[in-house]
Amino acid sequence: AADCFERGLLTGCRVLITAGPTQESIDPVRYITNHSSGKMGFALAEAAAEAGAVVTLVSGPVHLPTPQRVTRVNVVSARDMLAACEAAMPCDLLIAAAAVADYRPEVIATQKMKKDPGSDDGLQLRMVRNPDILATLAARADRPFSVGFAAETEKLLDYAARKLRDKNLDLIVANDVANPGIGFNSEDNAITIIDRQLTQNSFAQTSKGKIARQLIAFIAARLHQS
Ligand code: CTP
Ligand code: CA
Repeated sequence: AADCFERGLLTGCRVLITAGPTQESIDPVRYITNHSSGKMGFALAEAAAEAGAVVTLVSGPVHLPTPQRVTRVNVVSARDMLAACEAAMPCDLLIAAAAVADYRPEVIATQKMKKDPGSDDGLQLRMVRNPDILATLAARADRPFSVGFAAETEKLLDYAARKLRDKNLDLIVANDVANPGIGFNSEDNAITIIDRQLTQNSFAQTSKGKIARQLIAFIAARLHQS
């Protein structure tokens, strides 16, 4: 419950949080993005700051106010987000709540792209992989206690456990984005946290603010045990 949240749980702890979508440019007027609102990451930043942490929030383009006592760094693309996170290292705790674009257009056209006047064909856009921000930071020698999110529409716990292992995380927060009441762009969330022993802890559906406080209390307890 929210009242299990205590002030001072993360006093002096340096916390890095990623939030929101990334935008990957196609040309000067077009981009590829996703439906992430940034609400969960911002709620986590607020809860971590209330718990006494020194918080850096690296955010993609969102329409949200910066929480009190949080240092916010605005970025646009996945590559910008990685650079901003690397600049904010070292830290004690990383929470990757951003919905990072997995691919970006191979080239960004310098001028607005024009339709081919000679044909009615569709457009083929070549995409290349973006860096994995969370996996990159969790692989460093000075790796923080690393918490990821797994947004899935099917096989939620299987896929989440696989990401925990593949990215060398301490915890992963599994998030069912197929359920319209929770996850992407909604006010509420319901989550299951999986640890390295594959033990599951679930938090029932409630506001993202309450889930954030529960998550920060849970993560702080595990961080102090590690
Ligand atoms: N993540 C990241 N950088 C990326 C992709 C993902 O930091 N380029 C982080 C997300 O912030 C999240 C976790 O990795 O904490 C899992 O993201 P998700 O999109 O669910 O998984 P992917 O590893 O990208 O795999 P897929 O999209 O294929 O399911
Ligand atoms: Ca992805």
